[in-house]
Parts: sequence; structure tokens; C-alpha cells
Amino acid sequence: MVRNYATEPVDPAVVDLALRNATRAPNAGFSQGWGFLVLDMPEDVHRFWVATADDVDAPDQWLSGMMRAPVVVLPCSSKAAYLRRYAEDDKGWTDRDESRWPKPFWDMDTAMAALLILQTATDHGLGSCFFGIPPAREAAVRNAFGIPEDHDPVGAVTIGHAADTTGAAGSPTRRRRTPMADLVHRGRWGHGSSPSA
Ligand SMILES: Cc1cc2nc3c(=O)[nH]c(=O)nc-3n(C[C@H](O)[C@H](O)[C@H](O)COP(=O)(O)O)c2cc1C
Repeated sequence: MVRNYATEPVDPAVVDLALRNATRAPNAGFSQGWGFLVLDMPEDVHRFWVATADDVDAPDQWLSGMMRAPVVVLPCSSKAAYLRRYAEDDKGWTDRDESRWPKPFWDMDTAMAALLILQTATDHGLGSCFFGIPPAREAAVRNAFGIPEDHDPVGAVTIGHAADTTGAAGSPTRRRRTPMADLVHRGRWGHGSSPSA
């Protein structure tokens, strides 16, 4: 994740490719219940930060580095689209009972799409960062950009060229990476072992 950007613009073709890749993310029932709000004009990007942050005029290190990103994308999920899709004949969940859903596939799929945006940026030498929108600010973001009620931003992604200078430190600078052996459980939970163990 890059949280400190240069002001240099990004190639719009890379943003287009990132969006195209996003729409090829795995998605339950091929529901495609997502939408992507792209902010690539300076005034729109500025309006995003005004809507989400208190201190755009006196930004801290994180905010000043992030505000320089020339592009912000908001991947939005549509739960309604999934409920509609799974009520179709080939799925047959006509009662639209939400207890049928093992997990909120609408948010999962949109998050997978967001990962493809991050990976496309990285593949093309750009930096990017996924981050959450504070719940208290969601209404302001919706109002600022006309996001409809049936679509929910799952977060936001900044895209840009990484600045040369050091920026806000991410959590990995404050936490150790958990060893694989503590995370991977072979055959039975608790029998952790790394591939080399
Ligand atoms: C759901 C989610 C929310 C995140 N929210 C923030 C955030 O609000 N601010 C931020 O700077 N980074 C945020 N991140 C980035 C994580 O801090 C980062 O992915 C993690 O520390 C691992 O670092 P790496 O992705 O650089 O390997 C978020 C990542 C995810 C997946």
C-alpha cells in the first residue's frame, strides 16, 4: 500500500485497464452486483477528501500524502442485485431469505474487484492503497457524488505514482508478520506447519 503520492498524473489507460480487470473479478452467480465511482479530475478528488476528512486544510502526514493521488476509485457493492439474481429461475432463492447467504457475497466480490485494481496498478509501476470510508462520512460521500441507495461503497482506492519521500507508515512497520506456521493448518486446525516444516 502506498500512502504518499507524487502529483504526476497517471496514464488513463492504466486506470481503464484496472477497471476492466475489476469487472472480471470472480462474482457469485455472475451477479456483477457492483459499480465503480472513478474520480480522476482534481476538483472531484478534492471533493472526496472534503467529504471524508476533517482537516483537508491542515492535513496530517497520511492525509497530505493520500490527497496527492490523482485518482480515487470507490468500488461499490449492490446487495439488492445479488438478492435479485439469486431469485432467478436457475438459482431459485425466491424467498430472498438473507439467512441463505453463507457470507455477504456482494461485499466479498467487490473486495475481490478492488484487489484487481490494486494489482493492476502495481503491475504498471503505480502505487495504490485500499482504505475504509469512516461510517460517519458515508452520507456525505453519497451526497457529493450521487451514489444511489442500492449501492454501498466498500471503501476507496487511491492510485498514483509513489513519491520519492517517506510517507505515513503503514501497520506493517508496527507489527510483525505472523509466521506461516501459525496461519496454515494442515489436515486439522492446530496442526500448523509451514511447507518447509
Ligand atoms: C479492508 C481494508 C481496510 C484498510 N484500511 C486502511 C486505512 O483506512 N488506512 C490505511 O492507510 N490503510 C488501510 N488498509 C491497508 C492496510 O493497512 C495494509 O493492507 C496492511 O497493513 C498490509 O500492508 P500491505 O498491504 O502494504 O502489505 C486497509 C486494507 C484493507 C484490506
